[in-house]
Amino acid sequence: MADSINLMDWRLPAPTDRAQLMVAESAGILKRFYLIQRELVLMQAGWLPGADHWQSKLLLPEVLWQDALVADEFRRRVLELRFPRREIVVGDDAPIVQLLQQFRNAPDGLAFIEGLQVVKSKLRTTYRNYLERIDHLDDAPTVRILRQALADLDEQIARLSTAAADGFQVYPERHAPAQQWTRGTRTMVEQLGDLLDLTPRDIAMPAVTEFGGREFAISRTGARDRRFNLNRFGWPDNLDRAIGPGVGLLLQVRQSVHHLNELWAAEMAAACLFDLAADAEPEFLTDAARWCFDEIRHCRMGFTRLTEWGFPIGEMSLGTFPYDAGADAAPLTRLAMIFYFESTYIHTKPERAKIFGEWGDAVSSHDMDFDWADEQIHTHLGTRWLKYFLEKRGDPRRPTDVRPDAEACVKQAIANAPPGDRAKTQAAFETMMTRARQFALKT
Ligand SMILES: [Fe+2]
Ligand SMILES: [Fe+2]
Repeated sequence: MADSINLMDWRLPAPTDRAQLMVAESAGILKRFYLIQRELVLMQAGWLPGADHWQSKLLLPEVLWQDALVADEFRRRVLELRFPRREIVVGDDAPIVQLLQQFRNAPDGLAFIEGLQVVKSKLRTTYRNYLERIDHLDDAPTVRILRQALADLDEQIARLSTAAADGFQVYPERHAPAQQWTRGTRTMVEQLGDLLDLTPRDIAMPAVTEFGGREFAISRTGARDRRFNLNRFGWPDNLDRAIGPGVGLLLQVRQSVHHLNELWAAEMAAACLFDLAADAEPEFLTDAARWCFDEIRHCRMGFTRLTEWGFPIGEMSLGTFPYDAGADAAPLTRLAMIFYFESTYIHTKPERAKIFGEWGDAVSSHDMDFDWADEQIHTHLGTRWLKYFLEKRGDPRRPTDVRPDAEACVKQAIANAPPGDRAKTQAAFETMMTRARQFALKT
């Protein structure tokens, strides 16, 4: 039959619904998604130290870790589609990235959490539309990434909304400024337009002061929720290591308070991410995000234990040491501060897991066991990235050589502690131990 017709006159049908986007355009859109996710991670990390409301503080590290994983998946997919090219440049997406950076400029942490929901809702709509447009056969790896991103966003938006509602009950005076900021966020989100349209665009940068915003700067001191018993130092052995951890009931309470106070480490990891990401390989974003999330999980371990035992939040001793101790330090010294704490106390974790287990506190043992598993990763991360940044700066020091600077910050904070702080920490300790004796059962 082929001999009897002109083959160019005949064609099998080719419906175009599957064939809307070719590889180059798909890679362009996914690059934009990567840049957006990356900006989300940076702004959420940047806000962690300055956000005081408790539920927001607990949530931000988890959310930014999820966003960092999705960012990394998008980045890898772009590189697959553009293989063998390895670079990702911002290019025509610069105005979009610049506008996204305006979302950092919220008046306070609660307003930021409110605005974040608007941004994430926009992203959810965009990802849903894109999932409908792409071909689920040819571009199946992207389908998987989008489905995960959408599941994350659904959960994140719901949890952020619950956190914000609690926040406005605790801080009702923040509600009006947050509403004003949210209105501004909506206006800015409208300016983002259709994120699936790759036509180069100009975006007029808004004056965020019109919405009550102010230029963002990461807080170098840890903001704390006023419901806690706030002290600069969470427990007396922060000030004097010679006190030792104690045994039995004291060790149980001490361990939980120390876990609660690992909030400082989550803040420090977030600060390192925020300060150093622009200067690092892309993997630093996921490593630092994971570190931050792990430390807030350790903090949650302590909060959960204390809550389960019945301690009222107002009696839980929550400090800012040693995050505040790094306020004037260089970013690499801050990284070394976490590294120094990790490597110094890591040996205590399996010991404590064993002690608690033998003594009949299976939950504290379990917490310590998983904490130890996390900390071993962090020791590796600390070494890896300190080495990386030192080499990149042409600094001849080894990672362990930065340790004296980190130790000096901590020692100085302890040496400068006014007598009033020592007395407050001691009083918090006594309140908690008195309460613990009321809750304790005879072994
Ligand atoms: Fe930790
Ligand atoms: Fe750690």
